[in-house]
Amino acid sequence: MAFEKSIVVTGGAGFIGSHVVRRFVQNYPNYLIINLDVLTYAGNLENLREVESRENYRFEKVDICDREEVERVFKEYSPDGIIHLAAESHVDRSILDPLAFIRTNIEGTVNLLNTAKNHWKNDYSSKRFYHISTDEVYGSLGDEGMFTETTPYDPRSPYSASKASSDHIVRAFGHTYGLPVVISNCSNNYGPNQFPEKLIPLFISNVVQQDALPVYGKGDNIRDWLYVEDHAEAIDLIYHKGRDGETYNIGGENEWKNIDLIKTLIEQVDEKLNRAPGFSEKLITYVTDRAGHDFRYAIDCSKIKSELGWSPNMTFETGLAKTIQWYLENPEWIDHVKSGAYQSYYAEQYGSR
Ligand code: NAD
Ligand code: DAU
Repeated sequence: MAFEKSIVVTGGAGFIGSHVVRRFVQNYPNYLIINLDVLTYAGNLENLREVESRENYRFEKVDICDREEVERVFKEYSPDGIIHLAAESHVDRSILDPLAFIRTNIEGTVNLLNTAKNHWKNDYSSKRFYHISTDEVYGSLGDEGMFTETTPYDPRSPYSASKASSDHIVRAFGHTYGLPVVISNCSNNYGPNQFPEKLIPLFISNVVQQDALPVYGKGDNIRDWLYVEDHAEAIDLIYHKGRDGETYNIGGENEWKNIDLIKTLIEQVDEKLNRAPGFSEKLITYVTDRAGHDFRYAIDCSKIKSELGWSPNMTFETGLAKTIQWYLENPEWIDHVKSGAYQSYYAEQYGSR
């Protein structure tokens, strides 16, 4: 079958990437979607069972830092577009092992940009390099104010500094070589398929198992939460309708102090498990704060709202309930992640191909 377009999605086996891949494979049967992912601990092909046998889906187990392999993928598929999500994404891991973040988030992004530039050879018509970034590049807010697209960069963790560097390099390729680039910076995502090292899935899992809930510092840091499918919808819109060279901020307009969110989460999980109200609050354990912990993130997403007509759809009440329900209904997903069994799925699924 001849496809109208081919798009490489990097990091498609991860949390947000898997929602993006599913959305594109299902909604655009005339596009060939190539999921390029090396499958680190965060990559889980079990996230993609629904689409793995679709005719318009391919999987390439490739490291974005590997020049020859990325070039091979470009030669084989001649992609019109890249949606670049592959990254080391967990702030706490970046504090323990910054070099892994420099390698993937910076070197990997440069390798993709360079390969796209060389492959497209200045013929950029209907081409697009879309880089997915984070609101953390803007630094930390006090009680007031919001990040806009023109807020100066002020990253403060190895993770956010590596993402900020990659944003700058993406813009430099746009400016210097005319590469058709677009960037979006999003706030905290939550939803099904998120690796249980991040706050919401970790705490759901711990409430279910009756393990301690490690709250950093006093629990008064603030995050702006967006349901992952709303992010995937924004990515779809920006890929198709965003303007070259532009940046779009994406946010949930949904700020929560950590401790308030945690208490709401406990209440909902306990209720679903028919436990008495407040039963699991005893699990709350205040622990040493994250080094350099950013106090507050808040996104002003008026640009994408007015320019592209996007807005966050999911209310937090419904989104959190859906997320909890998904984790309760998929205990094997959590078990496979915890036991490492999800990592053998690749050999099982693709080993003989
Ligand atoms: P994730 O950690 O769940 O997934 C990352 C994916 O990238 C995994 O599948 C992993 O195997 C893959 N990967 C990592 N290193 C790779 C490499 N060298 N080569 C190929 N693949 C590699 O991440 P996520 O939370 O889904 O985030 C996806 C993107 O969105 C990241 O760029 C992140 O910075 C950004 N982002 C995340 C959030 C959030 O709240 N999770 C918010 C804003 C922006
Ligand atoms: O803002 C976007 C960013 O959101 C993304 O770019 C990152 O990839 C993503 O991981 C997320 O970063 P955070 O550091 O905000 O997310 P995390 O889930 O790790 O933590 C959310 C808040 O909860 C933060 O204030 C730290 C706190 N926390 C987290 C964990 C894992 C705890 O108190 N205890 C914990 O055990």
